[in-house]
Amino acid sequence: MDTFINLISNISWWLWIIIVLVLVAVRDIFQKKHTISHNFPIVGHFRYMLEKIGPELRQYLVANNREELPFNRIERGWIYASAKKENNYEGFGTDRDIYAHQHIFINNAMMPYKVADSHPHATDKSFLPCAKVMGEHSKRKKPFRPGSIINVSAMSFGSLSAKAVESLNKGVKIAGAYHNTGEGGLSPYHSHGGDVVFHFGTGYFGVRAEDGGFSMEKMVKLVEDNPFVRAIEVKLSQGAKPGKGGVLPGAKITPEIAKIRGVEVGKDVLSPPNHKAFSNVPELVDFIEAIAEKTGLPVGIKAAIGKLEQWEELADIMVKTGKGPDFITVDGGEGGTGAAPPSFADHVSLPWVYGFGDLYKLFQSKGLSERIVFIGSGKLGFPAKAAMAFAMGADCINVAREAMMSIGCIQAQVCHTNTCPSGVATQSKWLQNGIDPTLKSERLAQYFSTFRKEFVEITHAAGYEHPCEFKMTDIEVNVDDHNLSKELDSTYGYTKTIVPFNGIQSLKDCKYLGGKA
Ligand SMILES: Cc1cc2nc3c(=O)[nH]c(=O)nc-3n(C[C@H](O)[C@H](O)[C@H](O)COP(=O)(O)O)c2cc1C
Repeated sequence: MDTFINLISNISWWLWIIIVLVLVAVRDIFQKKHTISHNFPIVGHFRYMLEKIGPELRQYLVANNREELPFNRIERGWIYASAKKENNYEGFGTDRDIYAHQHIFINNAMMPYKVADSHPHATDKSFLPCAKVMGEHSKRKKPFRPGSIINVSAMSFGSLSAKAVESLNKGVKIAGAYHNTGEGGLSPYHSHGGDVVFHFGTGYFGVRAEDGGFSMEKMVKLVEDNPFVRAIEVKLSQGAKPGKGGVLPGAKITPEIAKIRGVEVGKDVLSPPNHKAFSNVPELVDFIEAIAEKTGLPVGIKAAIGKLEQWEELADIMVKTGKGPDFITVDGGEGGTGAAPPSFADHVSLPWVYGFGDLYKLFQSKGLSERIVFIGSGKLGFPAKAAMAFAMGADCINVAREAMMSIGCIQAQVCHTNTCPSGVATQSKWLQNGIDPTLKSERLAQYFSTFRKEFVEITHAAGYEHPCEFKMTDIEVNVDDHNLSKELDSTYGYTKTIVPFNGIQSLKDCKYLGGKA
């Protein structure tokens, strides 16, 4: 034994390295799981390592200031600096190609709006409430005017960490904005004094009946017990995964989340694509009215836009009956998510400008635009983008990822893995520990306040007092426009022959399915 120990201790360090490399090479050659390391022992590992750290290398070293998505370095930098009340200006002039497609120009007035000494903006340029009142037209018992035109968009506790949700809630309280719960239910972390919009989807988390459907009894109790809930939002779809339902990976389901949602610990939670509480547009309207009647709160819907037929049906019912949603949140196809299949996130539903434009035009043509509060979400958390959204008819904007960044998110894009390094989108206690909710709440509030101040300054530069006065003619966009785009049939000059289809069951029953025959 002593001789063996002596032999080992006499091996020099470089020989150890060679021994380890030989062992790795032998292991590589005899495994068949990874072809590259089998065919190229040892060196093959560099490929996997570089692939793993590639996003970080590109983000920090290689990508230029304007090329990253979803948010480029300049956009992230503006949010970080605004949230920390640091210098968020840029020197020497813009580094953007202002002739690029979709670039936004705001037409400034010859002389800006003059703020009188007695005007609220003389002392607080960040005072910017919504110009419309939710639920006023339908005479809901408790109408609500959002105190801020920028608010925190739907993001659940579960998708986000407890400390992140707490920071956001405390932050909206300071900023006078509202906090949308997201579809994971109302948690104790949403209850730090900020205005809350209670949001639910097809999983009905927080208002879930025994059979997995909607419980009006629980809804009424939730509103009675939590007077800071100002409005209710029924989620029909979201831009990142319309028609897909929700996905919360099992890794993120802690016992606490399981209790709030009424689901099992550690198991993926898949909320279905369809609602149990209604199956068509007239039933949706009845559902909205029933909730508004029982709770007294304004009730709205959130959706990503694609086809317009059912929206037209909704508009017609609203005209005929005077009933329907008090607000509509339009989420763009560019919207974020905790987890979604790339094919959905990349391709299903229209980008915000196209979707919102189509929807607004439709409701306007039916004379409904005044009675609805239109909310926009989809990378709108920047003053110039917000100006464009307001000019198109938005009354408020909701921000999700921009709010996350203001409290420390670094766009690692791993919300779906429970390994978020900033502690914002994870349930790992260790990773969350770095978040100080008091500090982060001030950061969110400061971002909102800086955003509103700059938005007010842009509004004044255009000659207006409030962004609600922005008109379509105030904003120009380099074309590449929806109205100039052509549908596939006119682009490629043919229409597809309809494929005979008799339902999924007939495919399942087919004797040829999966080579059964
Ligand atoms: C982590 C995360 C969780 C989200 N959860 C929900 C949700 O529960 N319900 C929903 O309707 N939208 C959800 N969204 C979408 C956002 O509310 C928002 O509509 C979308 O991200 C666009 O806003 P943004 O561009 O400011 O991020 C989530 C987004 C993120 C990033």
